Amino acid sequence: MRTHYCGQVTAADLDQTVILCGWVHRRRDHGGVIFIDLRDREGLVQVVCDPDRPEMFAIAESVRNEFVLKLSGRVRRRPTGTENANLRSGEIEVLCHDIEILNGAATPPFQLDDEHISETVRLTHRVVDLRRPQMQKNLMLRHKVAMAFRRFLDAHGFIDIETPMLTKSTPEGARDYLVPSRVHPGQFFALPQSPQLFKQMLMIAGYDRYYQITKCFRDEDLRADRQPEFTQVDLETSFMDEEQITALVEEMIRFVFREALAVELPNPFPRLTYAEAMRRYGSDKPDLRVTLELVDITDAVTDVAFKVFSGPATSGGRVAAMRVPGGSSLSRGEIDELTKFVGIYGAKGLAYIKVNDASKPNEEGLQSPIVKNLHEAALTAILSRTGAQSGDLIFFGADKAKVVNDALGTLRVKLGHEKGFVTGEQWCPVWVVDFPMFEYDEEDKRWVACHHPFTSPKDEHLELLESNPGQCLAKAYDLALNGWEIGGGSVRIHRAEVQTQVFKALNIGPEEQQAKFGFLLDALKYGAPPHGGLAFGLDRIVTLMTGAESIRDVIAFPKTQRAQCLLTNAPSAVEEKQLRELHLRLRQKADTQIEPARD
Ligand code: AMO
Ligand code: AMP
Repeated sequence: MRTHYCGQVTAADLDQTVILCGWVHRRRDHGGVIFIDLRDREGLVQVVCDPDRPEMFAIAESVRNEFVLKLSGRVRRRPTGTENANLRSGEIEVLCHDIEILNGAATPPFQLDDEHISETVRLTHRVVDLRRPQMQKNLMLRHKVAMAFRRFLDAHGFIDIETPMLTKSTPEGARDYLVPSRVHPGQFFALPQSPQLFKQMLMIAGYDRYYQITKCFRDEDLRADRQPEFTQVDLETSFMDEEQITALVEEMIRFVFREALAVELPNPFPRLTYAEAMRRYGSDKPDLRVTLELVDITDAVTDVAFKVFSGPATSGGRVAAMRVPGGSSLSRGEIDELTKFVGIYGAKGLAYIKVNDASKPNEEGLQSPIVKNLHEAALTAILSRTGAQSGDLIFFGADKAKVVNDALGTLRVKLGHEKGFVTGEQWCPVWVVDFPMFEYDEEDKRWVACHHPFTSPKDEHLELLESNPGQCLAKAYDLALNGWEIGGGSVRIHRAEVQTQVFKALNIGPEEQQAKFGFLLDALKYGAPPHGGLAFGLDRIVTLMTGAESIRDVIAFPKTQRAQCLLTNAPSAVEEKQLRELHLRLRQKADTQIEPARD
C-alpha cells in the first residue's frame, strides 16, 4: 500500500511523490493549513494539507488522533527555522495530494505523548501504550539484541533446540507454576524455571553446543527487575572449561553491545571472586561505576566498649566501614534519611564518624557519639583501613554479614549515584566467580544450592561436600552489569556419583533423588561429557540498554508487580466444568477482583 515508512522519509527523497500509511499522532489546524504528524513504527513525518485541494482538505479536517490513513504527497524541504532536529524526517515535510481514511479510532484513553500516565492505565490499554514512540524504540531494540545473540551463536556453532514447556520441576530456587493434567488425575506438569536439565541432557546426547531464546517461569516476589515469565538467552556447551566458557560469552556480550548500541565494552571484563565482591561492595552484583568501597573492621572492634560493634564482631557477624570523601558536610537531616534507608534492609542503625582531623584518632579529631566507646587502636585501624582524610565521613554497619552487606551495599550505590562518587564510565561489566556451592537457609535450617544443584564443585573442594559444605566453592560465574545480574551459569556435574553427593549435601535422600531427578541420574550413566553453560536475562539486558526503569517497559505484554495481566485480566476464574475435567475442587472461591498495579 505504501512506498515508504513515515519515519524513514528524509531529504534524500526531496521532490518525490511518496505514499504513506500510518496513524494520526497529532493534527494541528493552523487557520487554513492543517498539519498532520503521521506515525508508524519507524517514526513520525509532518504532512501539510492546504486548502488548494478542497476534497483532500475536507478529509483532513475530519481526521482525529489515531485514525489510520493512507496518503500521498510530494516531499519538500521545511521552511528555514521550522526544522526539527529530533526527528529523522525533521528536515522535510510531505505536501499532501490525497488522503484516504482506512479506519477511524475512538478517542484514545490517554495522549500518547503524555509522560505522566500511570502504569495501571498504560498496562490496561497496552495496545495504545505500545504505539508510544518510546515503547516502539524499546521493542525494536529488543529485536535487534535478540538477533545479535542469534547471529553470534549461530556463527559459533550453537544450534537452536526447543525444550518443553510442560515438564517436571526444574529447580532454580523459585516456586513452580503448575499445570494440572486432565488425562492423569491429580498429576501436574510444571512450567520450566529454566531449560537447565534439558540442555544438560542435550549435551549428554551429543549435540555439543545448544542455545535457545526462551521463556522461563518463576513464581516469586516481583520487583522492577523480575517478571514471573521472562526470557533467557540460554546456552550450553561440551568440552569447555570455566575460563573458555566465560571468554566466549564475554565476546558474545561485546558483540551484542557493538551491534545493538555501537558501544565498545572493555576487553577483558574485570573479574572478582564472590568473597572479594562481598567484602568490598557488599554485593554479588556490584555496580562498579560507583567508587565508594566497604572495608572490614570486624577484627579491630572485638573488644571495644561499643556493644553495637563488639557484639556482632564476637559472634560471627560483620562490622564494616565505608568512607565518604568530603562527607562531613552531610547534614544531620541527610544522615537521618540515610539511616531510615538502611533500615529497609534490616540495619538497626547507621553509626558514623565525622573526620575533622585525620591525624587525631580520638575525640579531638573525630566527631561522633560513638567515638568515646571505641579505643584508640580501633580508631587508628578504622582511619587507616578506610584511608579517611580530614573532611570525610565514615559510615558503619554492624550485624549479621547479610544485613551489613545488604544495607551498606545499597547505601554505597545510592550515595555513589546521588553524590557523584562515580567513575564516569557508562558500562561496567564484571564477572563474579568462585561462588560458594551452598548457602545456609536459616528458616529451614538446611543447606541450599547457591546456583542450582547441578553445579560442579571446584575439583579441589570435592571432599568438602561432606566435611564442610559451607567452605565448598563452585565452578559458578555470574555476569553483572551496572549493578544488575544479567547472566549466570556454571560448569556442571557430569559424574553421577558427584551429583548424588551434592544431592546428599542438600539433604535430598535417595528416594527423592529418584522421584525428582531419576532421569538425570540415569542419563549421567550413559557417557556424559564435561559440559557447562550459562543463561542471560534478555529482558534485563534490554532494560539496561534503554535506560528504562523497569523490565516491564521492554516486554510487550508484561505482568504487574502482583503478577497479573491487566490487558487480558489474567489470571481469572474458570468454569466449574473445566475444573471438573481437571479433577480439581477449589479450597477457596476465586477472587475475581483485579488489583491495581503497584511499584
Ligand atoms: P539464573 O537463575 O541465574 O540461571 O537465571 C539466569 C538469568 O536470568 C535472569 N532472570 C530473570 N529475569 C527476569 N525476571 C526474573 N524473574 C528472572 N530470574 C532470572 C537474570 C539471570 O542472571 N539455568 C541457570 C543458568 C545456567 O546455569 O546455565 C539459570 O536459570 O538475568
Ligand atoms: P545507639 O547506641 O543505639 O544509640 O546507637 C549509636 C549509633 O549507632 C547510632 O548512630 C545508631 O544509628 C548506630 N547503630 C545502631 N545499631 C547499629 C548497627 N547495627 N549498625 C550500625 N550502626 C548502628
